[in-house]
Amino acid sequence: MQDVENAGNVKRQLAKLFETSLRLTVPDEQDIEPLVAACAGNFGDYQCNNAMSTWAKIKGKGTQYRGPPAVGQAIMSNLPQSDMIESCSVAGPGFVNVILSSSWIAKSIQSMLVHGIETWAPKLSVSKAVVDFSSPNIAKEMHVGHLRSTIIGDTLANMLEFSNVEVLRRNHVGDWGTQFGMLIEFLFEENPNWDQEEAAAIGDLQAFYKKSKLRFDSDPDFKFRAQKAVVKLQSGEAKYRQAWQQICETSRREFDGVYQRLKVKLEEKGESFYNPYIPQVMEELSHLGLIEESENAKVIHLEGFNIPLIVVKSDGGYNYASTDLTAIWYRLNVEKAEWMVYVTDVGQQQHFDMVFSAARRAGWLPADSSLYPKVSHVGFGLVLGEDGKRFRTRSSEVVRLVDLLDEAKNRSKAALVERGKAAEWTEEELDQTAEAIGYGAVKYADLKNNRLTNYVFNFDQMLSDKGNTAVYLLYAHARIASIIRKSGKDIEELKRTGSLALNHPDERALGLHLLHFAEIVEEACTNLLPNVLCEFLYNVSENFTKFYSNCQVVGSDDETSRLLLCEATAVVMRKCFSLLGITPVYKI
Ligand code: ARG
Repeated sequence: MQDVENAGNVKRQLAKLFETSLRLTVPDEQDIEPLVAACAGNFGDYQCNNAMSTWAKIKGKGTQYRGPPAVGQAIMSNLPQSDMIESCSVAGPGFVNVILSSSWIAKSIQSMLVHGIETWAPKLSVSKAVVDFSSPNIAKEMHVGHLRSTIIGDTLANMLEFSNVEVLRRNHVGDWGTQFGMLIEFLFEENPNWDQEEAAAIGDLQAFYKKSKLRFDSDPDFKFRAQKAVVKLQSGEAKYRQAWQQICETSRREFDGVYQRLKVKLEEKGESFYNPYIPQVMEELSHLGLIEESENAKVIHLEGFNIPLIVVKSDGGYNYASTDLTAIWYRLNVEKAEWMVYVTDVGQQQHFDMVFSAARRAGWLPADSSLYPKVSHVGFGLVLGEDGKRFRTRSSEVVRLVDLLDEAKNRSKAALVERGKAAEWTEEELDQTAEAIGYGAVKYADLKNNRLTNYVFNFDQMLSDKGNTAVYLLYAHARIASIIRKSGKDIEELKRTGSLALNHPDERALGLHLLHFAEIVEEACTNLLPNVLCEFLYNVSENFTKFYSNCQVVGSDDETSRLLLCEATAVVMRKCFSLLGITPVYKI
């Protein structure tokens, strides 16, 4: 009987067996954690690496064992009987290699096919998390950095949701601050009858921002009025609030356009949301003795940092840090989140380290940062142009995200047309496929790299159908779907009546790889590394290609079993796509 709790997670299921064995092997040593890992050697599918560290614990204590290999032998012989395991062996200094039973692998896959891939979802020890991502700034350009945050954050949120964690997808937009005085004042100046007329459209907000900044920098009188406008806005004067709303609304419409195309869901709770709570949070920090005066500002001194964290500016205003401290307070106390994940460029690492450290000093978070409630900063590197410099357009402006997405779609549409699809498909099919491929390519090119590294944005590369690209993977999936379609078999019927066997080595290798899914998703979301899932997905496709070139599916004696293996591959690939925010295609 499979352990329902850990269905699909081979590593955990094996760890349970090894836990029992370790207790029998060294009864005097309590709580030795089984160290089990998948391995790619010829000797095993998984390996238990406890012998050496166990030996280090027991040697000199009159143990019956003579060295790590003997401990390994004992761990192996004390393993409880299980239908998971085909055979075991001990190698080198006591590594216990496990070869899984092929029929057990096949049974696990078939059970997933019948009961759904959700049965392979990781079980995490948190039930509620905040993922703070995307978070562009009102009136400023939503740039490629925000695109990275949107793509990475969405994937992390998807993985957590799949793991049955309730996720608050938070868009912490920069909608507060002194720049609004300038913008509002400029709005009034440009539209003298602003309050009598229907609010005039702002049009291009970036241009608007630039012009108002120019006014602000060049005219002291305007600057003075802008500063007064901030005060009026912050004290809640109706006209100023209304103007602020209008500016935010204009930006919001633009952001939403990007989110809609990317099919990303977010809930806005911008900086302004936390504003009313800041005074009481500052009060609490003050009571705790954390806040000190320094050159008219209020600061928190933190160990390990050579600058203090400024929480109240010298003009009495609050800032990015006071807002983020308040957001932590709110998320912990009001929203009861147990894990808070922040997705921004690595440039903000220090800001978050300091804010987190202050929250720890306040006793809001445990001193041990691995315990819950927990905070994690998910940093990422830069997007570079082909010249290796920060990604910009020819006119050295920031690249507009909508333009990027348009170009990705147009290019993939052109490629489909070139392959004769315009004659085969309806315009709608052509469009939807072009979007799935184009946007999928942009997302995958970002997610496949370790997020901390910079990457070069290159359309030709990301839209190539060769190599580790979304296009290659989407084509691979479509090909599998077409194999199943062309077989003419009812796959739902086969799931119920057919049976899966993994006799050929390439069938087994593919099956075993699919079975790693649960532990991979768990690793990717506990370590907050989407690239781990991308690598897995790419390897699924590679394993499938090998299987398909060596094992005939349709028309073979093993047709039913192989069709089931094709379906299982497609199901796993689709789940990976959906976690990565990519829409699968079925026809190519
Ligand atoms: N608006 C910020 C920026 O564009 C990112 C906000 C990230 N989230 C946060 N809670 N500080 O850089």
